[in-house]
Amino acid sequence: MSQDRIPLAGVIGSPVAHSRSPQLHTHWLKTLGISGYYIPMDVSEADLETVLRSLPKMGFRGVNITVPHKEKALELADTVTDRATIIGAANTLVFRHDGQIQADNTDGYGFTENLRQNAPGWAPESGPAAVLGAGGAARAVIAALLDLGVPEILLSNRTRVRAEALQSQFGRRVTVIDWVQAGNMLEESVTVVNTTSLGMVGNPPLRVPLDGLRKGAVVTDLVYAPLQTRLLIEAEKAGCVTVDGLGMLLHQAVPAFERWFGTRPEVDAGTRAAALR
Ligand code: ATR
Repeated sequence: MSQDRIPLAGVIGSPVAHSRSPQLHTHWLKTLGISGYYIPMDVSEADLETVLRSLPKMGFRGVNITVPHKEKALELADTVTDRATIIGAANTLVFRHDGQIQADNTDGYGFTENLRQNAPGWAPESGPAAVLGAGGAARAVIAALLDLGVPEILLSNRTRVRAEALQSQFGRRVTVIDWVQAGNMLEESVTVVNTTSLGMVGNPPLRVPLDGLRKGAVVTDLVYAPLQTRLLIEAEKAGCVTVDGLGMLLHQAVPAFERWFGTRPEVDAGTRAAALR
């Protein structure tokens, strides 16, 4: 791969038009004065392997991977980082100079950095964390929380067996709570995370009873459209520290941009505005 080529990166999904990553990376390219491009690409699963093998030949340094290709991309990669193996999905691919495709997952990093930046007093090791949902996003969040030394994760999901599967994977620091009792786990939790798609534009709201939220708890919602969800509005009223989900999207992009373009970008108010444009 020649180094004097225009550096390219992009996001592959299907559909991909809703992705905010192009605005975000393009903002960083411009503000850092890098003459590269970041391109959204709608690719079918049948074409994924051929596309991934072709992109490096055109000057691509790597791509983000979004729904529905995160698991398939992990399978197709030549090497996989430990954190992507744990999550079982890739959100970032790096096309290495030796021709190998490396799969990574920066979602857990994005989750942690978002809370570190926006809830400065957050002490995750000081008490249990309540996690709502047991999909791919929950897996990244649980791995990140365990890395931070959270003593116990109270995990609740509509489909209990999916929560139990995560408990089997992550071990005894994860306790499964019935979905109908999810409200009860909030009382002792110093961290509360919604990883379900409830509350997202076009989906029903999260209806879990929220009167148990603890004053001072750090509450975050991975949903960022809208930015203010019922969970965050109620948490604010209860005296919690609230952090919206947009920051996770911004922070998960930082290590990818750095690997592809060689400069570490900042996440600031300008970055948020660019992603919302
Ligand atoms: P992601 O990768 O974003 O986590 P996912 O794997 O499809 O996406 O997971 C979506 C999560 O939202 C799951 O926890 C799902 O619950 P189920 O495992 O029971 O499907 C949750 N979810 C979606 N719609 C829901 C609804 N109407 N009520 C409760 N939970 C819902």
